[in-house]
Amino acid sequence: MLNPGHGWPFLLLLLLPPFESSLRCGGAGAEEATAHSHRVLLYPHSEKVSSIVSRKYRTGYHFQPPKNWINDPNGPMYYNGLYHLFYQYNPDSVIPGNKTWGHSVSADLINWLRLEPALDRTEPYDAKGCWSGSVTILADGRPAILYTGADGVKNQAQCIAFPSNNSDPFLREWTKPDSNPVIRPNGPGLNPSQFRDPTTGWTGPDGQWRIAVGAELDGYSAALLYKSEDFVHWTRVDHPLYSSNSSAMWECPDFFAALPGNSSGLDISSAVPNGAKHVLKVSLDSCDKYMIGVYDLERDRFVPDTVVDDRRLWPRIDYGNYYASKSFFDAKKGRRIIWGWANESDSSSDDVAKGWAGIQAIPRRIWLDSDGKQLLQWPVEEVESLRRNGISHKGIELKKGDLFEIKGTDTLQADVDIEFEPRTMDKADPFDPSWLLDTEKHCREADATAPGGLGPFGLVLMASDNLEEHTTVHFRVYKSQHKHMILMCSDLRRSSLRPGLYTPAYGGFFEFDLEKERRISLRTLIDRSVVESFGGGGRVCVMARVYPMALVKDSDARIYVFNNGTSTVMVPQLKAWSMRRAQMNVKKG
Ligand SMILES: *[C@@H]1O[C@H](CO)[C@@H](O)[C@H](O)[C@H]1NC(C)=O
Ligand SMILES: *[C@@H]1O[C@H](CO)[C@@H](O)[C@H](O)[C@H]1NC(C)=O
Ligand SMILES: *[C@@H]1O[C@H](CO)[C@@H](O)[C@H](O)[C@H]1NC(C)=O
Ligand SMILES: *[C@@H]1O[C@H](CO)[C@@H](O)[C@H](O)[C@H]1NC(C)=O
Ligand SMILES: *[C@@H]1O[C@H](CO)[C@@H](O)[C@H](O)[C@H]1NC(C)=O
Ligand SMILES: *[C@@H]1O[C@H](CO)[C@@H](O)[C@H](O)[C@H]1NC(C)=O
Repeated sequence: MLNPGHGWPFLLLLLLPPFESSLRCGGAGAEEATAHSHRVLLYPHSEKVSSIVSRKYRTGYHFQPPKNWINDPNGPMYYNGLYHLFYQYNPDSVIPGNKTWGHSVSADLINWLRLEPALDRTEPYDAKGCWSGSVTILADGRPAILYTGADGVKNQAQCIAFPSNNSDPFLREWTKPDSNPVIRPNGPGLNPSQFRDPTTGWTGPDGQWRIAVGAELDGYSAALLYKSEDFVHWTRVDHPLYSSNSSAMWECPDFFAALPGNSSGLDISSAVPNGAKHVLKVSLDSCDKYMIGVYDLERDRFVPDTVVDDRRLWPRIDYGNYYASKSFFDAKKGRRIIWGWANESDSSSDDVAKGWAGIQAIPRRIWLDSDGKQLLQWPVEEVESLRRNGISHKGIELKKGDLFEIKGTDTLQADVDIEFEPRTMDKADPFDPSWLLDTEKHCREADATAPGGLGPFGLVLMASDNLEEHTTVHFRVYKSQHKHMILMCSDLRRSSLRPGLYTPAYGGFFEFDLEKERRISLRTLIDRSVVESFGGGGRVCVMARVYPMALVKDSDARIYVFNNGTSTVMVPQLKAWSMRRAQMNVKKG
């Protein structure tokens, strides 16, 4: 139980006003590098060179520690009244390596306190790093971490850790028992250097624990299945939970159950109700892909509803800069929440200059569409607590070529929620399924300047006065055999004049019953170097990183709604808010 003696000072800390003033963001003045204890003025006399180290690129409400490298979210959980987020963290530097489990806690998923790393490289079996893993809450209520230890030659094995003191409300210290590593890469066909990222555990009809581990098996990718009575002694099941020869290795498998059309989450560690589907998410090719199917209890296997051999066609959790995601069941609100890592899109020397690299995407509620074919995601409602100064418009008409400026809200830290309603759908161009093989290519070719029958229409963000720099997030509607296919693009190719950035045009398609739904929604969270968008009620999500020069120089940007398609599009509703800074990883004293 959360000891009230500890709860109070903690709550007070969370209630303190955000440290907006101490960061001096948004103010005028020279850029500062605060990576070390002294302050350096960069380019104090130059107007032209806007520095990548500007604090203005640091996010205001997306999760990040004060400095250094982070990547995968690890073992998120809700425990005794607090959310815990662990994450791959190099305490020494902004370059990947020497991974520990960074640790932060929150009462609301938005404001975070930073604790000391929960796992450090202390043993021969994790000498090269405490890599990704999960937390499972055991039957007696104790949480257990399973993580991958990388030994001196980066061979991998799965290791366990328990809280050192269950009465500590923050679970600051974790103990690695002598039985570690608990799972070695033994058995035919396994590659010890491709064996990692254990999932959260679940129990089968025989009452035994099961977990999956990402691996290369006989040169193919597999989610290996392991069983245990006590969560400490594990045996490998003679077949994987699922495997595929369409790639060589899966990282960060995530396995969970969901009821179609029900946005409540299910706790995979408990019995799963009738009618539930199972989802297997895997990370490969720098993105997170998923399959929906059933968990065949008799054969102890995941069986996808459809097997798609070409992995380019697998649906994605996010079509942008998003990787190594990890979900958990939030017992507080009965929902499933997914976290994912977004890396920087600048160079590693930029990262060295900045002193920080990597953020986590906004935690998202995740559930299954009523047809059971598509995952939906939406920012957790708690993020709305940061909104202020809301503005709203109704009934905007966008003819071909129209550009409507959204004024009166902060343009660098904002939440924009908008709906588009085509006047007619007759002019939608025909859909070509070959576009699905390379949606980025299609977003480049059919970009915001290329008029179509229905679309492009959407948002222009982070725009400099003359639109020299801007990012677009837009839709294009196509007619397919049955329904409509909607393309959502997040085009970064003109997002910054700074050289050396990674600026693709991200894109994903979703099938949509436009005749019935009429409206296509777009929600975009703008957070300085982040443009994170949710299209069609969360059917396609795109996380993007941007570093406009204008943001540093002018400390301002513009937001517009536009339509470059032939058909007129209505905006029945547009709402936007400025977003406050969250309390982000203040160190617990
Ligand atoms: C990892 O730690 C060692 C010291 O233990 C240090 O020499 C090395 O530079 C560190 N590597 C990174 C990438 O931080
Ligand atoms: C365990 O945590 C509780 C609560 O923080 C503390 O009072 C106690 O001293 C701790 N025990 C040990 C052995 O550290
Ligand atoms: C790959 O898997 C498919 C079924 O998923 C199978 O038809 C095919 O023979 C396999 N190819 C190889 C090389 O094993
Ligand atoms: C959704 O699922 C939850 C958890 O299983 C259940 O309690 C609830 O009744 C379901 N809601 C609907 C509308 O079916
Ligand atoms: C990270 O960023 C680079 C571009 O800077 C990109 O090419 C890479 O695939 C990204 N994702 C991951 C998971 O490393
Ligand atoms: C709309 O099309 C015109 C003409 O091609 C182009 O100049 C303009 O930049 C486009 N708008 C956007 C947002 O790309």
